[in-house]
Amino acid sequence: MSSFLIVAIDGGAASGKSSTSRALSERFNFLHVDTGSYYRAITAELLRRSLRVDQIDAVKAAIPSLHFGTQVDGRAARMEIGGRVVPEAEIRGPEVTAAVSHFAAIPEVRAALLAYQRGQADVARTHGFRGLVMEGRDIGSIIFPNADLRFYLHADVEARARRRELEGRADAVAERDRMDATRKTAPLVLASGAIDIDSTYLNLEQVVDKIAGLIAAKLG
Ligand code: CDP
Repeated sequence: MSSFLIVAIDGGAASGKSSTSRALSERFNFLHVDTGSYYRAITAELLRRSLRVDQIDAVKAAIPSLHFGTQVDGRAARMEIGGRVVPEAEIRGPEVTAAVSHFAAIPEVRAALLAYQRGQADVARTHGFRGLVMEGRDIGSIIFPNADLRFYLHADVEARARRRELEGRADAVAERDRMDATRKTAPLVLASGAIDIDSTYLNLEQVVDKIAGLIAAKLG
């Protein structure tokens, strides 16, 4: 039995992390943190400042001026940069989707987010949530290696590319996975001890039920 639970959900592009995490946050009154949206918000802001992925020194120099904050919107945490939440339409747009894995591979960008992401547990506690469900690529390996539960969502690459197509979003799923899995700092990996779920032939409800059963057991 635990009074506040931290659940980590990692997986490749379009593996169903966001829908699963959102459903879990509603079922258990957890704060939902989509760390991909944080990397996307930073990418949008850097692009807005006309910085390119190959201007590593200029990107590093810009980091201290980003000033992160958090806005809690229902059960979702949204990152503020300089007091402004970057709009969803902007962070899901094709320019950000094409650039995000490049910026996310820069160690200084990841370092800038490390303490901020860990601090989201305090945001959740302060707002009276029963736990935190955090999704990303390195949550169970780097951000919360001691999370109460850690999951890794798999799905074959064709199934994931199809999901994006159905959403009408341009997204080179396999290429983003390749970049995320091969970068030096905090690559996408099945963390040792994480529970591996293959969602290729499961629907959202089946995935959520599988994870929810384990959360319910922990909550007692
Ligand atoms: O589009 P999808 O929901 O699959 O991806 P996302 O979760 O929005 O993440 C966008 C990108 O951010 C990923 O492709 C990674 O390059 C990066 N990311 C990361 O490096 N580490 C995380 N914890 C989360 C996202």
